[in-house]
Amino acid sequence: MKKTLLALALCSGLVQAAPIELKFSHVVAENTPKGQMATHFKTLVDERLKGEVEVKVYPNSQLFGDGKELEAMLLGDVQMIAPSLSKFQKYTDKLQIFDLPFLFNDMAAVDRFQQGPQGQAMLGSLEQYGLIGLGYLHNGMKQLSASNPLKVPTDAKGRKFRIQTSDVLAAQFDKIGAVPVKKPFAEVFTLLQTRAIDGQENTWSNIYSQKFYEVQPYITESNHGVLDYLVVVNAEFWNGLPEGVRSELKRAVEESVTYGNQVAARKDKEDKAAILASGKSQLVTLTDAERGQWVAAMKPVWQQFEGAIGKDLIDAAVAANQ
Ligand code: SIN
Repeated sequence: MKKTLLALALCSGLVQAAPIELKFSHVVAENTPKGQMATHFKTLVDERLKGEVEVKVYPNSQLFGDGKELEAMLLGDVQMIAPSLSKFQKYTDKLQIFDLPFLFNDMAAVDRFQQGPQGQAMLGSLEQYGLIGLGYLHNGMKQLSASNPLKVPTDAKGRKFRIQTSDVLAAQFDKIGAVPVKKPFAEVFTLLQTRAIDGQENTWSNIYSQKFYEVQPYITESNHGVLDYLVVVNAEFWNGLPEGVRSELKRAVEESVTYGNQVAARKDKEDKAAILASGKSQLVTLTDAERGQWVAAMKPVWQQFEGAIGKDLIDAAVAANQ
């Protein structure tokens, strides 16, 4: 009886249905490409789906850290996340392509590959696990920070580097005789500060926003890899949305990814400049010959993971450099 009355009240417009709650959890600071993308997404949804969808953004691993966010999404505890591509290893080998060292020359090449047929096909590769990839989001190229200057690969020998949960990244550091340590993003600053680890790899914006530069006296501008994201939603949640709401949300994701990518390009320059201006960390630049040594030492990782990733995919990524 109560249910019938409520249904009647809803139909007659006497009672407003509660908005659909969409929690967007992430691990970085608000003033980063991903943080800004999430905020922009919320703004667009607030404007366009007022009263129908309420977006709540949780930055800085407040709700879930990177070790838990994918699991939480599959349990329905969060509806949208954008983990780094290195964190999907449990679900697919294919996305590991983005971790291969010295694969992409720059972000334009990454973009060409992601927007090409192979990159777009990978967006759907997680559907069998209950996840839908809505789009790639940029952060930038990775640099190496350390407690000692890293000019050539032997400078890293025996030293501990924090990595994301990716076997490709572990192999990359194995190849130079360093010790890779898989740790959540939220723990990196303390590990560096206490000297429990010697270094880490990350983008200029993450090194800046997490203040790694304050406890890492040297940053080698290696551009040896890429750190990008996949914006994903829980498939059951997404497919269960009313058609009109889903298409508006999709449009808002696309627009906020474009916005986030612009922020990424700008912050890559600005945050590098801010780090150098702080005087807390010294920039180590590599000569062509020194960079060649890093390439020669790390590139054998491609061969090691060719079977899992697929030669065709690697060839397509290389072709995106032209
Ligand atoms: C992120 O940018 O989401 C985190 C990257 C990392 O774990 O290093």
